[in-house]
Amino acid sequence: MEFDSACEIIRRTRKIEGWFWPAAAHLFALLDEIQKSVGIEGNIFEIGAYHGKSAVLLCAMLRGNAESLGVCDRFGCSSDRNVAGFRPQFDRTMRNHSSAGSCLRVLQKDSADLTPEETTTNCRFFHIDGGHGGREVYDDLVVASKAVGPNGLVVLDDFHNSAWPGVAEGFFRFMHERPGEFVPLAVGFNKGVLTRPSAHGLYRRFLNDPARCWAAIPRGPFSVKTIEFCGVDTVLFHTPSHRSPDLRRSILSIVHQHRPRFADALGRVLRYHRSRTA
Ligand SMILES: C[S@@+](CC[C@H](N)C(=O)[O-])C[C@H]1O[C@@H](n2cnc3c(N)ncnc32)[C@H](O)[C@@H]1O
Repeated sequence: MEFDSACEIIRRTRKIEGWFWPAAAHLFALLDEIQKSVGIEGNIFEIGAYHGKSAVLLCAMLRGNAESLGVCDRFGCSSDRNVAGFRPQFDRTMRNHSSAGSCLRVLQKDSADLTPEETTTNCRFFHIDGGHGGREVYDDLVVASKAVGPNGLVVLDDFHNSAWPGVAEGFFRFMHERPGEFVPLAVGFNKGVLTRPSAHGLYRRFLNDPARCWAAIPRGPFSVKTIEFCGVDTVLFHTPSHRSPDLRRSILSIVHQHRPRFADALGRVLRYHRSRTA
């Protein structure tokens, strides 16, 4: 997806309730752009849609009618307690902000019960943002392993987020019990990106170029580095620690977490001030 289209969707969906940060949306657009530039085709699937904030962007990544978007969510419904849940909000979001039409398949159920027929088995992009417990994340990765095609990607939410340790638990258990299914490719913006071992080199070629990452993710982190993680080179979009001895960086990184636009502007002012006083 082109940079301008991603900006437009981020702007339009700003008021939709959800947890999809602008920088993560730009990361999705960058990965989509890479897939399209090398001709990787396939469907898109999301576990955990909530009100549809991330689903709108995923929908815009589709290649017309040739690909479909599947989403799975329990939508907070409970038949035994007669709770209606938030499916109406999701439907409204998709009606107002996307043109998915028949390309959208909504599965209102527990993600652990998804079948390969429902997810399809040739997904190029699979977003896991459902239950954040160790068992749920493990189960969702198993579902993804049956759904993702040979060059596809899995994006795992709240990767290494200390507020959700179950995500790391589920990820490492999966890596331990099912070696060779996926390897890490990139980590950043609260997301972990995985791919098939055979496709790792293909994506790395593009992500090796920090300038390309910077251009695609404008409100991005302050550095991009490559580290060995689970035995493979992994790109890390790195925001410095809050406890950095550099006060300016500490303030910027805290502000960046909550108000990316404001942090950008503040960074420009500080850089300008430094250049004038140097
Ligand atoms: C963090 S929210 C998703 C946020 C959304 N992707 C966004 O960007 O705003 C998590 C969603 O996962 C759903 N969920 C949690 N556990 C689930 C499960 N086991 N099966 C299906 N959906 C689940 C919840 O109903 C909730 O809507």
